[in-house]
Amino acid sequence: NTQHPRSVHSGGGVVFGAEESRTEFGMPLLKLLSDGKFHSGVELGEALGVSRSAIWKRLKTLEDDLGVEVFKVPGRGYRLEEPLSLLDAERIAQEGGWPVTVLASIDSTNAEAQRRLPQQQPPFALLAEHQQAGRGRRGRAWVSPYGKNLYLTAVVSSPGGIQKLQALSLTMGLAVIRTLQQLGVEDACLKWPNDVLVRGRKLAGILIELSGDPQDVCQAIIGIGINVNMRLADNIDQPWISMAEASGGLQDRNQVASLLLREIDSLWQIHRRSGFAALRSEWERYHGWQGRAVTLSSGVRCIQGTVAGVAEDGAILMHIDGQTQAFSGGELSLSLDHDS
Ligand code: BTN
Repeated sequence: NTQHPRSVHSGGGVVFGAEESRTEFGMPLLKLLSDGKFHSGVELGEALGVSRSAIWKRLKTLEDDLGVEVFKVPGRGYRLEEPLSLLDAERIAQEGGWPVTVLASIDSTNAEAQRRLPQQQPPFALLAEHQQAGRGRRGRAWVSPYGKNLYLTAVVSSPGGIQKLQALSLTMGLAVIRTLQQLGVEDACLKWPNDVLVRGRKLAGILIELSGDPQDVCQAIIGIGINVNMRLADNIDQPWISMAEASGGLQDRNQVASLLLREIDSLWQIHRRSGFAALRSEWERYHGWQGRAVTLSSGVRCIQGTVAGVAEDGAILMHIDGQTQAFSGGELSLSLDHDS
């Protein structure tokens, strides 16, 4: 697994290295093709100052390394399956109000944030057009095709130690909900602890990892994946939906990223001052499974009950045999009972 950064910084510079060059080399070509129209090999070669066969090789690299599908029609040239709205670091940084780096392809933006932490001072945000090994919760993979969705990691520093970060993943679920509402996805809801669902299908997920000293200054690596314009994916093992489907049109990924960063920032300010307690009632308003009959699983153990809400520390509250009990822990997951 190549764990090398391939980065296009907000300043616009392209970083080359032995491993990086293959994919980065294709980026100007992808930009030319991003309008979704036909471009002949001659035209592309002239625009980039290389031969037609070099163009062909770069297209092959884009297909092999990033899974970008390129159609070739004799006499007309090459085109992408549909237009791509590529991420623009400068625009996201300006509109979102964060220091932003956009990576062309990386193993995982969370892993890359972790690697950068010793040198880079939070807050900062990393986005990638493509993840080779996107991480989900509970050891699952996060499917991350090129240019379709949002793969974003925002890193913040907590001087108050890990205590201040309790229930942060629930708070970040609200950041996603607030963003979606501004972009025409109004029926999104939360599933404890931090899935975002629309019509029972998963639209976004959150994975928070920690770094630093749990008792002192520590950092939260907030990874958020949102299905934005993805139409097809044959390797996702659960029902899913994209913002495009939920809102009835393709979305501008730069706008999604900027709005999301704004919401992350404003909710983080509340969370670090007052904790999740200040956001609990808003969270419960969007809790899709409030009052529903569910099964809570942790490994082999399953508990049935009715969802009563969430506690101030982010634990799920369940009515079980006439009593309310609180459960928390990263390995827990909820499923809806059939008759609920
Ligand atoms: C989940 O399983 O619901 C959490 C998914 C989190 C995916 C995001 S995409 C950006 C960041 N980088 C990763 O490798 N994972 C998170």
